[in-house]
Amino acid sequence: MTEPDEPADSTARTESRPTADEFTVTPYAVEGEINYEKLLERFGAESLTDEQIARFPDHPLLRRRTFYAGRDVDDYLEAAAASDPHAVVTGRGPSGPMHLGHVLPLYLAKRFQQETGATVYIPLSDDEKFLAKDQSFDAIGEHTRENLRDILAVGFDPDRTRIIVDTADADVIYPIALRLATHLTPATVDTVYGDQDTVGLQFYPAVQATHLLLPQLVAGRRPTLVPIAVDQDPHVRVCRDVAAKEALPVEKPGALLGRFLPSLEGPGKMSSSGDAPSIELTADPETVAETIRTHAYTGGRATLEDHRENGGDPTVDVPFQYLRFFFEADDKRLERIAADYRAGELLSGELKEIAIERITDFLDAHQRRRGELGPLETELDPFRLTDGERRRALERAGVPTGLEP
Ligand code: TRP
Repeated sequence: MTEPDEPADSTARTESRPTADEFTVTPYAVEGEINYEKLLERFGAESLTDEQIARFPDHPLLRRRTFYAGRDVDDYLEAAAASDPHAVVTGRGPSGPMHLGHVLPLYLAKRFQQETGATVYIPLSDDEKFLAKDQSFDAIGEHTRENLRDILAVGFDPDRTRIIVDTADADVIYPIALRLATHLTPATVDTVYGDQDTVGLQFYPAVQATHLLLPQLVAGRRPTLVPIAVDQDPHVRVCRDVAAKEALPVEKPGALLGRFLPSLEGPGKMSSSGDAPSIELTADPETVAETIRTHAYTGGRATLEDHRENGGDPTVDVPFQYLRFFFEADDKRLERIAADYRAGELLSGELKEIAIERITDFLDAHQRRRGELGPLETELDPFRLTDGERRRALERAGVPTGLEP
């Protein structure tokens, strides 16, 4: 899943740091060792049942419970099974180059689209990242354009997919966010997100709530599922809340919540902007190999002899975890690798090479599609909201623009 970024401002860290059994998870701070089950209690979301997983399109991210929890998943599944309209919203905060973890929900959304015809909306919150990161508009704009190329390379169907950039689509986002913001009190924002540095970030949840309602505002009521890393769940909760208060003609969006892809340096340390190197989608094969060989935390034993005798531990081995999350789709092969590793027949270095090969294959295909894209404006055009769609969204939200009579 997405590797969470650093807190918006390092001063946030002057609060006491969590101890081993404490942890913090908000969209702006992820600290401590996460207990994913406890987190659900805190957030009020539910574990996926086997039966729910079986009703989703088959995908290793679900089968292996990287996406492990949700809200109102059944409504979405029923609509998908009945071929009734259903939508997926999964976005990106363009604060830097995209890494492996960032594309997992996008490839999952693509699978949903292919299998059941889901409408997919992909908002890019350049406004949020401008406020949360100490970066110029130019820098955020550059990341936005590069991220868009990666998103386009995933290969969504333009007839069923809309890509939104907050600053570029402000004509539709802003008036709707205003309406939702009337229910967003500083006390709510404080409780849900913790201290925010600026009033800009205090307003932003109204923008992300708008993203989550947009498919329904554009095209009418439909179950909407938001596949995201669990740190983004607060946005879903706030959206469900304010949507109900506004009595908008929408269903509350549901969530499909995912665990974080572990950082290369091992479980529990997940900051993408810290020292741990991460694998960017544009990385060449040599860089991928070099990064994994030098940095990946392994579950191997200290000596060859010890490893041969006692075996390694795949559950903490990062190359194995990468294979398990996404990059080895075949269950049998994955089990075989785990068994060989536990038995001491497969060495850490050999396991690293398997991961390098699979990740390189994936990136090769992604980069080939990325390289075949034409100019960004041309490629993006069929994915942008049409004038009619913008008008209908504003009408459904009950926010005609100020120049309309
Ligand atoms: N806030 C998200 C992040 O920081 C990006 C995002 C914006 C998003 N809009 C969204 C994610 C809607 C999911 C759904 O990564």
